[in-house]
Amino acid sequence: MTGVTLAVVGAGLRGLTYARRAHATGAGRVVAVAEPDPQRRAAFATEFGISPDLVHADWKDLAAAGRLADAAFVTTQDRLHTEPAVALADQGYHVLLEKPMATSEHESVLIADAADRNGIMLAVCHVLRYTPYTQALKGLLDQGRIGRLVNVQHLEPVGWWHQAHSFVRGNWRREDTSAPMLLAKSCHDIDWLIYLFGAGPSRVASFGGLSHFRAEERPEHAADRCLDCPLEPSCPYSAPRLYLGCLGDPAREFWPLSAVTAGRTEEEVLEALRTGPYGRCVYATDNDVVDHQEVTMEFADGATCSFTMSAFTPMDHRRTRLFGTHGHIEGDGRVLRVVDFRDGSEELVDTHVVAGPSAAEGHGGGDAGLTDAFLAAVSAGDPSLLRSDAAASLATHRVVWAAERARLSGTVVTL
Ligand SMILES: NC(=O)c1ccc[n+]([C@@H]2O[C@H](COP(=O)([O-])OP(=O)(O)OC[C@H]3O[C@@H](n4cnc5c(N)ncnc54)[C@H](O)[C@@H]3O)[C@@H](O)[C@H]2O)c1
Repeated sequence: MTGVTLAVVGAGLRGLTYARRAHATGAGRVVAVAEPDPQRRAAFATEFGISPDLVHADWKDLAAAGRLADAAFVTTQDRLHTEPAVALADQGYHVLLEKPMATSEHESVLIADAADRNGIMLAVCHVLRYTPYTQALKGLLDQGRIGRLVNVQHLEPVGWWHQAHSFVRGNWRREDTSAPMLLAKSCHDIDWLIYLFGAGPSRVASFGGLSHFRAEERPEHAADRCLDCPLEPSCPYSAPRLYLGCLGDPAREFWPLSAVTAGRTEEEVLEALRTGPYGRCVYATDNDVVDHQEVTMEFADGATCSFTMSAFTPMDHRRTRLFGTHGHIEGDGRVLRVVDFRDGSEELVDTHVVAGPSAAEGHGGGDAGLTDAFLAAVSAGDPSLLRSDAAASLATHRVVWAAERARLSGTVVTL
């Protein structure tokens, strides 16, 4: 099998993850790349054996070269999704596009329109839809195992150090350079909940804010950087503890450490913490995204759902309780406990998820499942192998924007 040919735009952590999966299965073959960082570009070109004339420093150069592959992975940062996605769709590439689709509703509409007018497949990377766990849960609901869904409680435990890494010190810490937390992180959860309910909500409300990672919470005598701080040993958010602890573990060296430094020695990590953004005190950065948020949704049939995102947890799989007219399901990302009200029986459905919830661990099988489904869909020319298209993702992103409007205005928003 020669596999689907691929152009990768943005050879960062996500681009590498999907490209490696495509090569590992043989279902795809990377033939072109665009990446401005010279170190990342060279390493990526070498790893995938890309011909030098198809190695570009910018997505615009790749697009200017005409169509080079069957499909493209657009895995640039949040604010650089729209232009490459639209340009490549216009050239006839099928597109695997990282979430969030775009950071505004207007741009997301441009992307969905481009997919539509070119008749291409465009999948947004909602990896949770593709885990074995989700498929087992969706199967139980579709079989009517708990009757009609009446309400759902869903928790996204972001994890204290993950919040500090990505949303206080890292790439997603500010709304103006990335997006609100609900879009940058929890668009996965809103998308997933809508997938389970089988329809979008008719009304949403939301509360939340940035409660802890702010200047007012800074302990007395804390320094601006962990390496200068007398309180570092007793601080839960110590950068040296987090990042030096990654050394020697290949999964954690890939994520979160690769975001901090390409180096793999103690001295290189310490140098990055001395000079770079990841060594900053969590109470002295320029972050503004929320560290906790609730979203409440009401559906047309009166069903309701409450979603909680919190930084103040261990980093773990999402937890969900689903309340139906004939039964109850409680899931921890691995095992689903199903109680049937007709006879009081209890069944444990083990979805055999061995992978953890983090990017280092492939999001519980979601990264692999998504890549495989996208490549199979492109190879067969069959969009039904995807669990959502551009229009479906636009619809779930619209719920995210509505919830943010509700939070900021203190109102209930009707969709
Ligand atoms: N689906 C998920 O579960 C998931 C998880 C993490 C991140 N993400 C999303 O994936 C996207 C990428 O995240 P990441 O962690 O891989 O980021 P990253 O910063 O590691 O990678 C992005 C890459 O794009 C490159 N780039 C910048 N300008 C470019 C240009 N003009 N042309 C081509 N490449 C360019 C950067 O140099 C960088 O290497 C983000 O939108 C993020 O929100 C999704």
